[in-house]
Amino acid sequence: MKFHVLTLFPEMVLSGLRSSIIGRAAEKKLIAIDAVNIRDYTKERHGKVDDYPYGGGAGMLMQAQPVYDAWQAVTGGRKLRTVYLTPQGEPFTQKTAARLAGEEELVLICGHYEGIDERVLEETVTDFISIGDYVLTGGELAAMVVIDAVSRLVPGVLSNDASAETESFYNDLLEYPQYSRPEVWREKKVPDVLLSGDHRKIAAWRLEQSKERTRRIRPDLYEKYMDKERLICRLSKAKRENIHMIESLHRGKGEILYADEENVLLYDPGCRLCMISAKNREMGQKLLLLIPKDTVLFVTSQSFLNELICSGFSCEVYHECVQVCYPQRQSLPVRHKDIRLLGPEDAEYVITHYHMGEPEYIRERIQSRAMYGAFVEGELKGFVGSHDEGSMGMLFVEDSCRERGIGASLEAYNINRICERGFTPYAHIIVGNDVSLSLQRKLGLYASSGTIWWLGKKE
Ligand code: ADE
Repeated sequence: MKFHVLTLFPEMVLSGLRSSIIGRAAEKKLIAIDAVNIRDYTKERHGKVDDYPYGGGAGMLMQAQPVYDAWQAVTGGRKLRTVYLTPQGEPFTQKTAARLAGEEELVLICGHYEGIDERVLEETVTDFISIGDYVLTGGELAAMVVIDAVSRLVPGVLSNDASAETESFYNDLLEYPQYSRPEVWREKKVPDVLLSGDHRKIAAWRLEQSKERTRRIRPDLYEKYMDKERLICRLSKAKRENIHMIESLHRGKGEILYADEENVLLYDPGCRLCMISAKNREMGQKLLLLIPKDTVLFVTSQSFLNELICSGFSCEVYHECVQVCYPQRQSLPVRHKDIRLLGPEDAEYVITHYHMGEPEYIRERIQSRAMYGAFVEGELKGFVGSHDEGSMGMLFVEDSCRERGIGASLEAYNINRICERGFTPYAHIIVGNDVSLSLQRKLGLYASSGTIWWLGKKE
């Protein structure tokens, strides 16, 4: 991911992001930070970039021309998402960070003095972002905050453990208290449960602590968490039909845009995916008014919604699927022994054999540690993975290795890894793919009674 920062103080931005995790990510070329000096683009003598505001008032304003020319030089006419950092912007949250992390390039404009001429903002800016209700001397620190929060979501930037944490069960809640050695410090003892070795008890204790802390310190977040829990509870009455929404909420990916007893609209900003369920056409129409403009994918389980979405968003139906899920969460036997996590060196093999995803998507899935391979005598012969929204898929086994239980082993291996993280494995099987459906049934997965549709925006 590439960040272009338009600023009067490039060194401030670059020096602040040179160290630690972000610095290493830049060295590894997982991210790139390009700081552009707005002053280099002024046409005024002596490098002047500011002037008095029309109508009077305190302070100076950055002029439109140098900002616009710097922006033009960076974008070269491309439509890049452009953020202006300002206390007048929308509050910056983890959800905003997830949304921005979906971009390949991002332009960040840092204001100074009393701000920037409104006309250039109108011409260039797509998002106005504030990092809090206070006023800084310029946008640089805010841009650095945004770059840090977005970069840690770029696959490969965080260590393995930490990246799993970003989609952990504790999403939407504040972190539980943590302890390290020694066991007793200034007569304060580490809570007994953490020394018990009982992982279920530890997880339950941590969840309770997180809930209690959130309720006390951030009642607003706690309310949101409870809304999600209530919706999960309601959707669980038809678990097989709603598993995609339940797991999206459970894994902290889906936001509730609307929910009542009979209607639901969820949005996964990382995948730019809307999941919709409505009791009738009229409610469907109402929900469609709430769909974020950057949505590119839709999942519905009612055919009347397909028509509405297709006509309202110029979409087409990609797939009709049966949902399968594995709610019992018991570990499955894996017969084939040589199954391993795939690395970047395996990407070409997967790209050659899997034709339902762009090469970039497959590389991202591997980078996100979401794909496993089956090796026979040391050679990669098949693979399986999880999609970015959470469902399992991408199963492939070479013809020469079929009928040896490798496909079932790959599936079982993937299922076990998902269960270990406390999630319910689920998949979408295209209607008519009876071979896959019978494999899922043999493994113990249950199929939904109805079907669901995937729709996407036409190019
Ligand atoms: N520029 C000055 N103050 C700011 C803030 N709070 N957020 C974003 N940009 C800013």
